[in-house]
Amino acid sequence: EKDGYSSFMLKEINEQPSAVEQTLMGRLDPQGNLMLDELRIDESILRAVDKIVVVACGTAAYAGQVAKYAIEHWCRIPTEVELAHEFRYRDPIVNEKTLVVAFSQSGETMDTLMAVRHAREQGAKVVAICNTNGSTIPRESDAVIYTHAGPEIAVASTKAFLSQIAAAYLLGLYLAQLRGTKFADEVREVLHELQQVPAKIQTVLDAAGKVTDLARRMSDADSVLFLGRHVGYPVALEGALKLKEIAYIHAEGFAAGELKHGPIALVEEGQPVFVIVPSPRGRDSLHAKVVSNIQEVRARGAITIVIAEEGDEAVTPYANEVIRVPRTPVLLAPLLTTVPLQLFACELADSKGYDVDQPRNLAKSVTVE
Ligand code: M6R
Repeated sequence: EKDGYSSFMLKEINEQPSAVEQTLMGRLDPQGNLMLDELRIDESILRAVDKIVVVACGTAAYAGQVAKYAIEHWCRIPTEVELAHEFRYRDPIVNEKTLVVAFSQSGETMDTLMAVRHAREQGAKVVAICNTNGSTIPRESDAVIYTHAGPEIAVASTKAFLSQIAAAYLLGLYLAQLRGTKFADEVREVLHELQQVPAKIQTVLDAAGKVTDLARRMSDADSVLFLGRHVGYPVALEGALKLKEIAYIHAEGFAAGELKHGPIALVEEGQPVFVIVPSPRGRDSLHAKVVSNIQEVRARGAITIVIAEEGDEAVTPYANEVIRVPRTPVLLAPLLTTVPLQLFACELADSKGYDVDQPRNLAKSVTVE
């Protein structure tokens, strides 16, 4: 069943082009408008939404963090992301104008389910983004957008993460189209770019050899840091979580801008630091800021492993290793930049002889609070 791969996780990482493609498929009408028929919530209610709250746990919550950047930009609706177990027990402000979006691969995560129930009790509409047909969270939600990643067997989530992000983009683009925001014009362009993403994920996978070599060389690391800004920040958090979960290595993800507010004190000679670099074609000099963060850690002896866009030569003077990803709009980049981090964790855990698919202490689906 592993199709020749050494683990389900590696197989699922390699299935990501089709997982994303399937999730995006069949959403355009002949005029090129986005259809989201599953979103069976009255359009008048969707137009009146004044706040979106994403609830989720673990990797699904990081997908939610990526979604926040995209949805706020395209829809201009304030969007919060909260761990479901924190949301549930702190008296959150939720009402009929709140749209709660619950991300869950399994659809059975009890913490997320309790948050869904709580939100609906307060009058909010709930949309589930879920990978498992007929599971509990979709059944208890007002609507569901299914991700079509196929069954995910490995405990560590990979293809579900990318598919959740893709589904969240669809939701954001649909709401922008429906509400006619000034960014609605971007919708077609982004949809076009999204269609190109599966092939670009394949390009990243085709270059996996470099990541595999790196993982094998770094198998003795006892701590790895991950830095990113903007949508690269949740990608950094996800890269760190993967390494903790399956390779049992201490790993932390930081917003690169936080470095000088504390974490840079951790950096000493030989400290491996992954940096997720935004496109140099993006706005707000984000790219230059991240390049200077690479310089800062490198000057303190860090070994820098940089994930950067093809053709971005500004990073090379400060990078011990550069892993390239194809060009894509800034907001879509997590669908590409996450992949080398998944591969790194998977190969490193494998080289240590660990059971990649069944890491210690973890269950695929956490059905208790
Ligand atoms: O099934 P869910 O998406 O609701 O699961 C949420 C988390 O338990 C899950 O993402 C967990 O963090 C994974 N082990 C991540 O690899």
